[in-house]
Amino acid sequence: MYLFKGDAPLHEFASVMKQPTKLGIKLIGRHFLKSYPYEDLYLLKDARQIRAAVKLPMILLGGVTDRAGMDTAMAEGFQFVAMARALLREPDLINRIQDEPSTESLCIHCNKCMTAIYGGTHCVLSTERPGVPRVRDETIAAMLLARLGDARPGLRSRERTWTWDEVVRESAARAALARDLRRDGPVPCGGRPPLPRNPRSTSACCWRTSPSTCSG
Ligand SMILES: Cc1cc2nc3c(=O)[nH]c(=O)nc-3n(C[C@H](O)[C@H](O)[C@H](O)COP(=O)(O)O)c2cc1C
Ligand code: SF4
Repeated sequence: MYLFKGDAPLHEFASVMKQPTKLGIKLIGRHFLKSYPYEDLYLLKDARQIRAAVKLPMILLGGVTDRAGMDTAMAEGFQFVAMARALLREPDLINRIQDEPSTESLCIHCNKCMTAIYGGTHCVLSTERPGVPRVRDETIAAMLLARLGDARPGLRSRERTWTWDEVVRESAARAALARDLRRDGPVPCGGRPPLPRNPRSTSACCWRTSPSTCSG
C-alpha cells in the first residue's frame, strides 16, 4: 500500500481471495498490507530528486487529483501527469476541471478499487458505470457514499447545516479514526470502538451512526 497511500481494504481483499489466501489475509494481512496517510502529490518529494538528475521527459503520478496539482507538476519541471484513482472515481473529471478549475476529486482513497481488478476494475463507490445497469444501493454505507459531492443540505442542527458532501466526508474521517483505534479483542458498542454515548440530538446521532456504517 506504500505506493498508493490511503486505506488498506483488508476485509475487501480477503473477500475476493480463495482459501487459504483468504484466511492468511484475515490473520496476518494487517502486517503486510498497511495503510499510509494520503496527501495530494505524495510522490513529488521523491520524484523531484529524479527530475533533477535526468534530462528525459517525466510523468508525475501519485495523488494528482486537481488543477492545482497539475500546475504544481508543470512548475516542478514534469512534462505530464498521470491520474489513476481520481479518474476511476470520475472518468469525466478532466473535462469538469477544464470547465471549472476549482473542481475537487470525489475519490476518498479507500483503495477498494484494487480489490475489483479480478472482475472488471471500477470504483466501488460509483453507482453508474459505462455499460452496467444502475443497481440499487444495498447498504447504508453505499447510500451515504453515493451522496459525495452533493451540495444540498444533509444534516441540520440548531447551530448549523452540513451539506451531504460534508456529512459523508466527516463520516469517512471519523470512520478512519475509529478503524485506527480498533484493537484486537472485545470492545464495547457491539464490536465497534467506543463512540459518543446517549446522543441527545439528530446531529449527535448522525455522527455516531454514519461513521459506524462507513468503517465497515
Ligand atoms: C485499481 C488499480 C490498479 C492498478 N494496477 C496497476 C498495475 O497493474 N501496474 C502498475 O504499475 N500500477 C498499477 N496501479 C497504480 C497506478 O498506476 C498509480 O501508480 C497509483 O494508483 C497512484 O496514482 P493515483 O494516486 O493517481 O491513483 C493501479 C492502481 C489502481 C487504483
Ligand atoms: S474505490 Fe473509488 S473512491 Fe476508493 S480509491 Fe478507488 S477510485 Fe477512489
